[in-house]
Amino acid sequence: PGTGTGTAHGKVVLLGEHAVVYGAPALALPVPALGCRARVVRRDQGGHGLLGLRMVQVQPGMPSGVAPLPPHTQESSVPEGLRTLTETVLRDAGLRSLPGVDVLVESGVPPARGLGSSAACARSLALALDDLLGLQLSADAVFHRVQASEKAAHGRASGIDALATGSRRPVLLADGHISNPPVGADGWITVADSGSGAGTRKAVAMLRDGFARDPGSREVFLHRSATLTRAGLRDMERGRLEALGGRLTDCHTLLAGLGLTTGRTDRLVDAALRAGALGAKMSGGGLGGCVIALTATERAADALAAQLTAEHGARCWRAPLAKGERH
Ligand code: MEV
Repeated sequence: PGTGTGTAHGKVVLLGEHAVVYGAPALALPVPALGCRARVVRRDQGGHGLLGLRMVQVQPGMPSGVAPLPPHTQESSVPEGLRTLTETVLRDAGLRSLPGVDVLVESGVPPARGLGSSAACARSLALALDDLLGLQLSADAVFHRVQASEKAAHGRASGIDALATGSRRPVLLADGHISNPPVGADGWITVADSGSGAGTRKAVAMLRDGFARDPGSREVFLHRSATLTRAGLRDMERGRLEALGGRLTDCHTLLAGLGLTTGRTDRLVDAALRAGALGAKMSGGGLGGCVIALTATERAADALAAQLTAEHGARCWRAPLAKGERH
């Protein structure tokens, strides 16, 4: 029987989360250290279509090798969007008459932390089906499959997660255009897990209700967020890491004003700044989730992670903000 494999990774939002849902720009950074892998196996005996769909959460990091899975593996419930994605791909490929498939998604992206776990799972699954069935889906077709699954998961989704979980470079979503802006100086992002999270769906719905009651507040937020994101983008491109750090912290304050931060994420941001980070903020959906902090060197990122773990019990990962040309 044939097997198809697909991989993707987590992401953080550097600037512009939530505002991007309403069309303002946002800048995201991939976190290659948090990997997700899907495997689809064709079963020549017994049944057609989707036979089985399992999702397991593995220790954060890159799921390595093939079976057996590590002992700490936990089977988790399968998000509805993944089932729909599989069935849609099979149906669109006109493969009702082909043998059935079994799906296993192994995710090392912690769920409900604003790290793009749902998009990473959907992307790896779409790529695994593509691999097995030889569909040669275009990048655009994969994106649209992932987006459909994201909308099922989050109610409303800008597409930034669907893009960044498959990119090796920072991703800018602005004015309906997607690009990989250049980075003018090497930096490091430390990602610190607050240990809890309400999930992006809840945060997006909370803002939508608040904005419906007070449309003026929405305009103010979108304007401020867009201004910060554009300024931060210029800082990143020109290698002004200190200035970029300041934008991250300003973005945290802006999101805090909307009630998206928690006592714990605020404390982690304060701790990172006191420890010498150039800037820090909550990232992604909020209401818990992760905090990110910018440092200039890998060594400083390591020291910061060690301190946040020792003093605040936060699990940490790192992602390079690597200098490079536009792709
Ligand atoms: C999630 O990473 C970012 C949000 O802006 C939601 C979205 O863009 O779909 C909160």
